Amino acid sequence: MIVVKFRVVVVVFFLNFLWAFANCDVAVSCDLKENCILPCQFEPGPEEVIHWMKENIPVHSFYYNRDQLGNQDQRFKGRTSIFKDQISSGNASLLLKNVNFQDEGRYRCYTSTTRGNKELFIPLTVDVPVQKVYIEQSGESIICRSEGIYPEPTLTWSTYPESSSSIESKPSVQQNGQLYSISSSLTRSEIDAGLNYICTVSTKKSRRTATLFKLTTVTGSESERTIQCSDSKSPVTRFIWRFDHSQIIVTESEAGGSYTVSEEWRPYVKSVSETGSLTLQNLSSDKKGIYTCELINVDETLIRNTFLQITEESSHTQTTVIGVVAGVAVVAVTAVVVLLVYRKVRHQRGVV
Ligand SMILES: *[C@@H]1O[C@H](CO)[C@@H](O)[C@H](O)[C@H]1NC(C)=O
Ligand SMILES: *[C@@H]1O[C@H](CO)[C@@H](O)[C@H](O)[C@H]1NC(C)=O
Repeated sequence: MIVVKFRVVVVVFFLNFLWAFANCDVAVSCDLKENCILPCQFEPGPEEVIHWMKENIPVHSFYYNRDQLGNQDQRFKGRTSIFKDQISSGNASLLLKNVNFQDEGRYRCYTSTTRGNKELFIPLTVDVPVQKVYIEQSGESIICRSEGIYPEPTLTWSTYPESSSSIESKPSVQQNGQLYSISSSLTRSEIDAGLNYICTVSTKKSRRTATLFKLTTVTGSESERTIQCSDSKSPVTRFIWRFDHSQIIVTESEAGGSYTVSEEWRPYVKSVSETGSLTLQNLSSDKKGIYTCELINVDETLIRNTFLQITEESSHTQTTVIGVVAGVAVVAVTAVVVLLVYRKVRHQRGVV
C-alpha cells in the first residue's frame, strides 16, 4: 500500500517537473543598450515556422525559409534577427540589439514544424548595473551615493571591524526618468572614528562597494615622506590622489603604469609606486593636510585619507646646532679671557 502510494507520488512529482520544465518562463535580463539573446528551443523538423511576439506585438517572423518582417512593429525595426544556420537544429533564439526600456515585457516564441508546435514565454527585464559608488567624509558625516541604476537598487552599510551596533540608515532614493539614484549619510553620532566604513549598492544583477578607511596620521619631515594608497602588494589599476578633498595631485589612467602629476604638485611629488604609494619631497608646512587616495577596482572603490603632519625637523636641528656651537664658543672665549686675566694678575703679583 505504502509502496503504491509512493510510486503515485513519484509519478505525479515527475509529471509536475516535466510540465514545469516545458512551460516555465525563463527570465532574461539584459543590460541597457547592449545586445540580448532571447533563448528558444524546439524539436527540429521540416517546414519551420517561427513567430516572436511581445504581448501580441509582432517582433520577428520566419517561414518559407526566410525572415518575414512585413508585420514587424516599428520599434523593433532593424534590431532583430534569428540565427539562420541554427534553425535546422531547433534553435529559434532571437537576437535583439540595442535594448531599451520599452523592450521590457513578456515575449512569446511560437515554433511549428510538420512534427508539431510549441510555445514558450520569455520575460525580459532591462538592467543598468551599478557603475560607481562614491563615499566621502564631509564635515562630520559620511556620505555614500550612486546614480544611474535600474531597477531600483538597495544600499547597506557595514563596518570593519564589525561593530556591535548595526547601522540602520534609511537611504533616499530618487528616480530621474527611468534611472534611480540612491544616497545615504551617517551622522556624527553614528560614526565611530576607529572603524572603516563600507557602503554596498546593489541590484539583483550588480553590486559594488565603496570603503572609507579610518583616518590615519603620519608625520613627515621636510625632506621626504611616503603615503600608502592601499594595503595591497599587487599593482593597482586606477587611482587618484587628492589634497584637502579638492586639489588633484596625481591621476593614473587605466593603461596602467603611467600617471600624471598636476602642474602645481610637480615639485613635491618624487615618485608614485605600482601599488599607488605617493612619495612626497620638498615639503613645507603648507603641505600639511589630508591626502586622499581613491582606488577604483573592478567592483569596489577604496578611499583612504591620511593626515600628513609636517615637522620642521631639519630647521629645528639647525637652530639647535647653531645654539650649541654659539654656546660652546661663548664658554671657550670666556675661559680664555678668564685664563688670560688670571695669568696677567699672577704675573703682576710675581713681579711685585
Ligand atoms: C542558439 O544560437 C545562438 C547563436 O549561435 C547561441 O548563442 C545560443 O546559445 C543557441 N542556443 C542553444 C540552446 O544552443
Ligand atoms: C623644491 O621646491 C622649490 C619651489 O618651491 C623648487 O624650486 C625646487 O626645485 C624644489 N626642489 C626639488 C628637489 O624639486
